[in-house]
Formats: sequence, structure tokens, C-alpha cells
Amino acid sequence: MSVPKIPTELIAPAFNPATFGIGRREAIDQLFTRLRKDYPLALAEVPGYDPHWIVTKYEDIREISRQDHLFHSADRSKTLASQIAEKLMRDYSGGMPTIFKTLVHMDDPEHAEHRKVTQPEFYPQAIAKMESQIREMARRHIDEFLAKGQGADFATELAFRFPAEVVLTMIGVPKKDHQKLLDLTHWLFTYADPDLCRPGANITDPQEIIKTWDVVYNEFKNYFESMIHERQTCPMGDLTSLIANGKVGGCPMNERNMISYLVILSTAGHDSAAATSAMSMWMLAEHPELFRKMKDNPGLIRGFVDESIRWASPVQQFVRSATEDYVLRGQQIKKGDLLYLSYISANRDEEVFKDPFTFDPERSPNSHIAFGYGPHICLGQHLAKLEMRVLWEELLPRLASVEMAAPGKFAESEFVCGPKSVPINYTLA
Ligand code: HEM
Repeated sequence: MSVPKIPTELIAPAFNPATFGIGRREAIDQLFTRLRKDYPLALAEVPGYDPHWIVTKYEDIREISRQDHLFHSADRSKTLASQIAEKLMRDYSGGMPTIFKTLVHMDDPEHAEHRKVTQPEFYPQAIAKMESQIREMARRHIDEFLAKGQGADFATELAFRFPAEVVLTMIGVPKKDHQKLLDLTHWLFTYADPDLCRPGANITDPQEIIKTWDVVYNEFKNYFESMIHERQTCPMGDLTSLIANGKVGGCPMNERNMISYLVILSTAGHDSAAATSAMSMWMLAEHPELFRKMKDNPGLIRGFVDESIRWASPVQQFVRSATEDYVLRGQQIKKGDLLYLSYISANRDEEVFKDPFTFDPERSPNSHIAFGYGPHICLGQHLAKLEMRVLWEELLPRLASVEMAAPGKFAESEFVCGPKSVPINYTLA
């Protein structure tokens, strides 16, 4: 069976963070539309990277993601990484493919054991109990944002801040430290964006990427170490207390896994929701008919949130490695092969979504996989949806109109990617 290969010049831009910062991501959408048509499952051989199967189709990503015993998360880098970055990481971490050992970097039974330590806190019933507290936070952030006046940047001044406050409060981080953890999140996820990267980092040098991960890990470690010890002596009702006292396989979690657990909650726990809300506002500001429809039909807000998540698909990719030979879409995947799961492509798959490039708050069904699928499906999906619903329920009645005050900008990141700037003008209702 001959292996289909994507011409290198076609796929190489998807390996470059800068491509994700272009315009409204048209370049990425065009690329993956072409791939779904001509190379739905094919090998990318980009110089400097091991070959990756680029998985563009919705059903294929689901087939891979639900079989995590066949497609591992822990054996290789969990996100796209160059050969040199992976080697540096292994040298640095004594053979591990990554510095962090978070839920996304684990396979079962380790994964399930760790996930269940906090999972009940993220069940819909538990999240629903937080609605009034989250609504109060949303109102405060909206007041603060509107006080900044015309031209204020919705992305940096509201979308980044509100979900961070929600999850960091759940973790037990005092408000005075939220900005610090927000910055660390950007250094990690948008390490290649000139505006959001670690100050002074040379974003084109792989050594510097590893250095950034090391700096971020140590900053988080220094921050959370004392909190963990405090909560072990005196547990409080927060996520840090659960993690600090959590048992895996009957034993306490090791310290690296505790820190990593807190890192994923403090980073993934707000960055994608922020990107999605910023994207939603961008859509409203550019489409007065959508804004009017949402104003006139508050009952559509849940659908608007789901469609915003599909549309934004802020997590661009995660990578899996095959644990045995497997045939997918007629192609022979070999044991050890790497598979790049493109969530944005899956969420634009014409075979699943009618008019995928139309933003439709009434889309039904809307079974996007922006939260992933299978055992690793996003732990915070119900929290993210609640935060966004409450935000729009509170903000839309306050506005009579909204438009972009200047062109918006996307972050340059091939991993978590959304608008980094959405300046708006508005009239109040
Ligand atoms: C996992 C996306 C919000 C915490 C994931 C995964 C995706 C994702 C695609 C799957 C990883 C995989 O398959 O390996 C999103 C999007 C969000 C969002 C699009 C918002 C729109 C949140 C929030 C939290 C969170 C608010 C708060 C706690 C996590 C955690 C995992 C995860 C802990 C790891 C789960 C595991 O490996 O078992 N997310 N996420 N996410 N997400 Fe989210």
C-alpha cells in the first residue's frame, strides 16, 4: 500500500505558528479545506519534524480519540514538536517527552486515576451550583470593561481576565496573583507570539522554547509548592486541596504530577474559553445582523455559545502515537507513527456540518469536537460553556450596538490560538 504524502510546501505553513496569526485564520481554513478534499489522511514530512499523519476528518479524530489504548498520549510530545525540541526536552527531563506530566500527557490507568481526583468538581451539577458566583464575576468584569470606554480591547480587558478569575478562584489562587498566572499561560501557549511570549525570549530558537517551558514550570512550582503544603496541613474547599490530598492507586500523587495538575487547570482552565469569547465578540462586532438576532432572541445564547466554540476551535491540535499497527481510512498506520489531530479541520468537515463556514447560532445538531473526544475529553467543558453563557446573558442587554474600533489580531500559535486583540466601539442600551 503506497503512503499518500502531502506536498511539503502545502503542509509546512501548518507547522509555523505565524500562519495562525494571519487575518481571521483564512490561511489555515483554506489549507485544511484543501487537505480534507485531496489529502484527508496523509503523511506530512516537514524538514526538522518526524513524519506526522495529518488527520483532518471528524470521524477519524473520533475513532482515534476514543481508543486511547491504541493511540497514546504519553509516549511522545503531546503537541507538535520539532525533532530538536523533543530531543532537548528528553535530554533535559531525563528521557521524558515533556517537562509537564498533566492529564493530557498520561495514558490509562494513570490518566483515569488522576482525572477522578477532580472530576466530580467539573460535573454539570457541581458547575451549576457556581452559577450565581460566576454571574457576579461576569457583571464585575463587564462593569470594569465598559468603564474603559470606546476602543477598549475586549480580548485583553475582558475575555482574558474573566475565565481566569473563575478557574483561579476555584484553584484557590488569590486575586492579586491572577495576572502573574495569566502571563505564564501566555508564555506557555503562545510562546511564539511576539506580543504574548516570555519577555526577551528568542521565539525562533528551539533552545529558548525549552527554556520557556522550564521557566514556566519552575515559576508554577515555586508558586504552588507552598500552597500544596498548606493545603496538606489545612485543607480548604478548593481544587488545590483536592490535588494536594488526592490519592492515585491508593497513594499520594507525586509532586511533579501535583504541580502539573495545577498547571493544566491554571492554563487550559481559561485560555481556550478566553479565545472563544474574544472570537464571539469579533463575530458580533463584524455582523450587525447576528448581533441584532442575539439581542432579539436571548433564548439562542446556548446555541451561540456552542457555535462560537465550534467556530473558534481554539485548540488547534493534539498529537497521538500509535501503539500498534492500525488501518484508518484505508491507510496503514504503523506502530509508533505520530498522528496530528486537527480539531479546527474536524469542526469544518463538510460531511458533518452543513455550510461549515456559516456561523449559525441555530445550528442543530452541533456536535463539534472542539473539546476533544473520548477519555481525554475536556474536563472543563461544562464550566467553559457556563462561563460563556453567563457572559453573553449579562453583556448583550447592556449593549445597543457594537463594531470593531480597529482590525482585530490573532495570536501566532500552532497550539491554542484565538484573537489577542478585539478593540470595539459600542453604544449602550
Ligand atoms: C482537555 C479544549 C476549556 C481543562 C481538553 C482537550 C481539548 C480541550 C480539545 C482534549 C485533550 C486531548 O484530547 O488530549 C478546550 C476548549 C475550551 C476548554 C475548546 C473552551 C472553549 C477548559 C476549561 C478547563 C479545561 C474551562 C477548566 C478546568 C481541561 C483539562 C483537560 C482538557 C484539565 C485534560 C483532560 C484529560 O486529559 O483528561 N480541553 N478546553 N478546559 N481541558 Fe479543556
